[in-house]
Amino acid sequence: MEITRNGQAENIIITEASKEQDFDISELTRGENLCYRSPEEVDSQISNFLVAINERKEVIGCVGSKLYGLNMEIISLMTKKEFRGRGLGTILLQRKVEELRKWDSLNIFALTTENVAIKLFFPLGFIEVGIQLFGPKVLTDCLGCSKNRMKEGVHLCNEIAVLYQR
Ligand SMILES: CC(C)(COP(=O)(O)OP(=O)(O)OC[C@H]1O[C@@H](n2cnc3c(N)ncnc32)[C@H](O)[C@@H]1OP(=O)(O)O)[C@@H](O)C(=O)NCCC(=O)NCCS
Repeated sequence: MEITRNGQAENIIITEASKEQDFDISELTRGENLCYRSPEEVDSQISNFLVAINERKEVIGCVGSKLYGLNMEIISLMTKKEFRGRGLGTILLQRKVEELRKWDSLNIFALTTENVAIKLFFPLGFIEVGIQLFGPKVLTDCLGCSKNRMKEGVHLCNEIAVLYQR
């Protein structure tokens, strides 16, 4: 795909991730709204990641997936700030869903904020479902999350669960 930034068109390639990109992907997951993935965790899941690469071979976006029984979570959907709002996030998500749809028996789900659900997930065929459907995920990844706690009587997590409708 081509992205125009500061008046300059730039070619972006979306491709399967390789081990040399572990650290770059991990750094991207430090961003807002995401569960941080260490380079070791990314490395152990590397075959489940797609990356977006610009002409300078920088990783400017990523998306991954992680299996919990028959539930496949879409994780680490992220684009660098300076490349946002140009369709890259949508294309990464689309490519990931296309890849996962092949497995008929898998439930494809994600935890995301309402804004991102409305803009990216719902248009691709996801619907909002109860987060309790994905207990094993919540019991592992969410346990260490800084938003998984109460403050002044309110639970800080602002994420909703979305499920892909086949
Ligand atoms: C979510 C994210 C990946 C979208 O990437 P992107 O490259 O901007 O995606 P797109 O350009 O395809 O965006 C599609 C639309 O969603 C909008 N959008 C993107 N992120 C949004 C957000 N956080 N809140 C509201 N709208 C958002 C875009 O402005 C665009 O709107 P438009 O079609 O009216 O122009 C990116 O904003 C990001 O990395 N955010 C931080 C991490 C995150 O929240 N990840 C999702 C976790 S599931």
